[in-house]
Amino acid sequence: MDIKIQKLDFSDGELWPRKGIVGNNDFMKLLDFRSDTVTKPSPEMRAAMADAEVGDDVLERDPTLDRLERRVAELLGKEAALWTPTGCMANAIAMMLHLRRGDRFLASAQAHVLGSELGTAAWLAGGMPEALPWDGKPGRISAEQVRKAAGSSGPYYTLRTALLCLENTHNFAGGTCISLQDHRDLTLAAQEKKLAVHLDGARLWHAAAFLKVSPRDLAEGADTVSVCLSKGLGAPMGSLLVSNQDKIEEARRLRKMLGGGIRQGGIMAAAGLVALDYLPRISEDHAKASELSVGLRALGFTQETPETNILLVPVASVPNATKLLKDVGVLVTSVGSALRFITHRDIEAGEIKEALSRIRTHAEAILARPEV
Ligand SMILES: Cc1ncc(COP(=O)(O)O)c(C=O)c1O
Repeated sequence: MDIKIQKLDFSDGELWPRKGIVGNNDFMKLLDFRSDTVTKPSPEMRAAMADAEVGDDVLERDPTLDRLERRVAELLGKEAALWTPTGCMANAIAMMLHLRRGDRFLASAQAHVLGSELGTAAWLAGGMPEALPWDGKPGRISAEQVRKAAGSSGPYYTLRTALLCLENTHNFAGGTCISLQDHRDLTLAAQEKKLAVHLDGARLWHAAAFLKVSPRDLAEGADTVSVCLSKGLGAPMGSLLVSNQDKIEEARRLRKMLGGGIRQGGIMAAAGLVALDYLPRISEDHAKASELSVGLRALGFTQETPETNILLVPVASVPNATKLLKDVGVLVTSVGSALRFITHRDIEAGEIKEALSRIRTHAEAILARPEV
């Protein structure tokens, strides 16, 4: 294939174009692997949003938000849930619930709460982060490490460690899962050391599908869990923090403090309820990542086999590779020296073959070390 996108097409009024112009009015659909957050609401979702029954959630609760919160609490086996616009806000509220100023919290190296939330754990919750190195496989931390890092109570001048933050799946480790056994060992270690546990489960659904367990099993032993409806499930926004009744009542106050009291939030909750219907199909996105991985191997790339929908592909030069791929309408981001491909519902199954055939045109150049 000898086509190169000459410019991106914004003519249909979208902020981010879906297609590139390849000459003579020919179009090439952009295959967007930058994130599973790039999905657009389906017509069914938009219809549900338009028809949503709403109230004023700050005054007396919104009935559709209430329905979504109950459904997600039930899915995760917890007493209550609180909707937030974003995963970052749900995590920030959890940190504010669990930490007092100067408390230390433990998290796996490269966890989203450590490096990708602009320091909210410190800024809003006063927490001191301690990154635990990966142990055994990317993203994994062991219960022994948690015990060691938590230390033991000492004299009054001992730093207090108050919280263990888990992330399942682990985004920057390449969507790797914490197995059910590891999850149980980790929460047990935390309990022994009197640490609260917050689980950043932005993609907990993906972990549950890969491990063939229920999200509820993977939430057990965590005091708070955040989950997202905008990552892979197709909602335009929305996360939930789940916990016991008392913590969620306090979380509601904290959400208001952060400016997150959304009046007719039912419009967004309606999208969230439709998004949950995608849960049984989430493995389809994992299959797309596997197919992409197998195809890339055949082209000479060497990467770990993906467990879920995130694929990290080491390349010689990230800026060079990203540009070459963009020229053929394949959009990716990067983590360190690897390209990050995330598969999702808006990448059709047949489009993986198309992506591979476009990547093939530049595979050699992407794999070659750039001249210096
Ligand atoms: C693991 C993880 N946690 C939290 C978030 C934050 O979610 P949001 O972008 O909705 O704030 C993300 C976003 O990609 C994520 O990957």
